Amino acid sequence: MTTTDPGTEVGRDLLRFPPGFRWGAATASFQIEGATGVDGRGPSIWDTFAARPGAVLGGDTGEPACDHYHRYPADVALMAELGLGAYRFSLAWPRIQPLGAGRVEPRGLAFYDRLVDELLAREIEPVVTLYHWDLPQALEDVGGWRNRDTAYRFAEYAALAHEHLGDRVRQWTTLNEPWCSAFLGYANGIHAPGVVDPKGSLEAAHHLLLGHGLAVQVMRDQAPDDHELSIVLNFCALTVDDDSQLDAARKVDGLQNRLFLDPLGGRGYPRDVVEDTAWLGDWTAAVHDGDLDVIAAPIDWMGVNYYSPTRVAPAADPLAVGDGPFPGLRGVDFLPPRGEVTGFGWEVDASGLTALLTRLRRDVGLPLVITENGSAWPDVVEDGQVVDEARTRYLVDHLRAVHEAIAAGVDVRGYFAWSLLDNFEWAAGYSQRFGIVHVDYDTQVRTVKRSGRTLAEVIGANAVPATGYDLP
Ligand code: FCB
Repeated sequence: MTTTDPGTEVGRDLLRFPPGFRWGAATASFQIEGATGVDGRGPSIWDTFAARPGAVLGGDTGEPACDHYHRYPADVALMAELGLGAYRFSLAWPRIQPLGAGRVEPRGLAFYDRLVDELLAREIEPVVTLYHWDLPQALEDVGGWRNRDTAYRFAEYAALAHEHLGDRVRQWTTLNEPWCSAFLGYANGIHAPGVVDPKGSLEAAHHLLLGHGLAVQVMRDQAPDDHELSIVLNFCALTVDDDSQLDAARKVDGLQNRLFLDPLGGRGYPRDVVEDTAWLGDWTAAVHDGDLDVIAAPIDWMGVNYYSPTRVAPAADPLAVGDGPFPGLRGVDFLPPRGEVTGFGWEVDASGLTALLTRLRRDVGLPLVITENGSAWPDVVEDGQVVDEARTRYLVDHLRAVHEAIAAGVDVRGYFAWSLLDNFEWAAGYSQRFGIVHVDYDTQVRTVKRSGRTLAEVIGANAVPATGYDLP
């Protein structure tokens, strides 16, 4: 086996990652925990949404998911077996504050105490996401993220969760993919709470960002110096064929990337996005004096979730409004994927990740962590094994893409595979398997897939093979 100096060096056989590179896998509370009615947990918007006929494929719900609430010791043992150095998971706000405000449920906090202690006992670093989409239903009943007050409730919840777990958890992420919460939740309504209100969705985006900033401020005040605070965004990686697509790409980039990056970076909301969306009504009236300073509160790193590239072209009618999740977007056609697609129909393009990371180096100026990356395929268990060649290829190709970005000077500090376990894939229910570990939902038996074994080898070597899919 040949390697050159540690860092990002290219050996003959191996592409080595920098020393201390953080390797992990990610999950989210509603997607894996199950046990939705135990220990005082309040209902979340996803419980309500999943109960709505037709909202989730197959009528699937948060039960049983992976029953991780009860099986966490075995799941943590599995993480240790895979050699994970870190585990990214989310806290279910409705377990901790069943009504989203006021009363704290000690049994909810106790579950996360047990989980964190189990992780630390196995020397796996907990990376906590405060909000991965399971808003307490009681808050949605008074407007959810369209209500400014929710930002303040979120900061209170962040403060108490951080106060409770901060003696053991150093890594804190406020929000996962606020684009999805705002626009899938309130613009086209394919996610909970299933509301169609484009102008309201832009207000929701602002309140999510405000909640992020308030939470950062309060955690920073009470955090020791070694705590790291972050936010996780899902960027779209736009690929254009020629200049005729640039304006369409600018509009989508504005509504998915810059709408979040610019205010977080202290630049306020992008003027072109405000102009393009003005026909919906003045959503910027939701932006009060001082809000932009709060949103720009310094953070320590930014999480990047990447799955697939996006291709757009100008629509024949420049005023045509699609039924997609981008509020106010006119005159843009989304082009079909090219080449290989995953079981979910998502285009496979690892080079999109390198391009995205390179662009973020310019626009973010913070260390980056790949907080999600993965692919869904229709796996089969045969003789107790899951030989998921396609997912293994996807994994290794995307790790090579990350390595390429690091070698070009992008400061990427870690990689979290989505997901540790097959789980509840939101509106697609249990139909899409993203895990590096297979879950049989009837028996709750876990089977490490070939991709999981490959990730374990990669972690062990702190390197990916330069060619092919097997480590030498
Ligand atoms: C991301 C979500 C995550 C998972 C993956 C496939 O948008 O953050 O929960 O569903 O997509």
